Amino acid sequence: MSDSKGCRSTSHDSVYLAEYYDLQAKADVTTLNAQGDAKVYLSALERQMESYYPLDHHGEHLVVLDVGTGTGRVLANLATDAVRDGIPLSNVEFIGVDKEPSMIHRALAVQRETPSMSQVGRIDWLVGDVLHLISAELLETHINQVDLLLSASGSVSLLFRAGELMRFFAQAAALLRPRSGRFYLSVKKDLISTQATTKPTDENATDAGLCERHEFPSELYEGIVYRQLPTESPALDGIIKRTPYQLQVIRRTDAGCEEVIEENHIECVQRIWKETELLECFKEAGLESVGIIQLHMRRTMF
Ligand SMILES: C[S@@+](CC[C@H](N)C(=O)[O-])C[C@H]1O[C@@H](n2cnc3c(N)ncnc32)[C@H](O)[C@@H]1O
Repeated sequence: MSDSKGCRSTSHDSVYLAEYYDLQAKADVTTLNAQGDAKVYLSALERQMESYYPLDHHGEHLVVLDVGTGTGRVLANLATDAVRDGIPLSNVEFIGVDKEPSMIHRALAVQRETPSMSQVGRIDWLVGDVLHLISAELLETHINQVDLLLSASGSVSLLFRAGELMRFFAQAAALLRPRSGRFYLSVKKDLISTQATTKPTDENATDAGLCERHEFPSELYEGIVYRQLPTESPALDGIIKRTPYQLQVIRRTDAGCEEVIEENHIECVQRIWKETELLECFKEAGLESVGIIQLHMRRTMF
């Protein structure tokens, strides 16, 4: 089970958590420059468009696959930025995959609310696991056909169990178009080490914000407020970082009464990767790393 930030939770998959994820992401745009990744994906798309020859593609779409898509933030931004810059999208196919049905449900709504998405040639949303991508019916038919594979917001750190990273990269290698396909893998700076040890590159980049109390009024459900309560600080246990937090979904009445209708105790478990480990796994999976982009709080390898 995952929470709004894609972490392990004792709560049920919930429409409220999906909306909370969106509201938190919007708030992060100003506080954490969370949309700073948009320009990376836009220029990646532009580069793929430049080398797209319909004949090579046998008339097929240029395929962008966003894994751990959440509520479709990255794809919606990509469509909006592309339309703004006059990049035609009629020959582009977007596929968003997330293991949480509520996230995919919300991504569909985001698609409808985002006018630029109507210009994308084809859009599919899929409930599925990054560890089993190629066994999903839709993706079975996309082996060697994905031009751009995106894994944003450091979600790869959620693959903390032995063998999971390698499994994910092997699926990526099978899906990517040989030679021209590109995989953009974002890792948060506090969850990657460039040294032989697993000391994160940016010790100051903590999730301290999670420990504070935040409230967001719902924009979708009348009288609903999301309240993130203060919790303990993240605990680092070797290569594993555990961040607890608590989220209440509250219904407020006109009379000023409050009722907690959903209580989520969440533990976000993330693994700190050494950059060398990621690169070795890339290689083992048959992928070649051709560059690294540094952003404010993330490194994106491709
Ligand atoms: C941090 S959010 C990122 C969402 C989106 N990519 C963005 O940048 O806004 C991580 C997402 O990954 C999803 N996720 C986590 N583990 C997954 C897995 N094994 N397979 C598919 N999705 C997963 C979570 O449900 C969550 O929506």
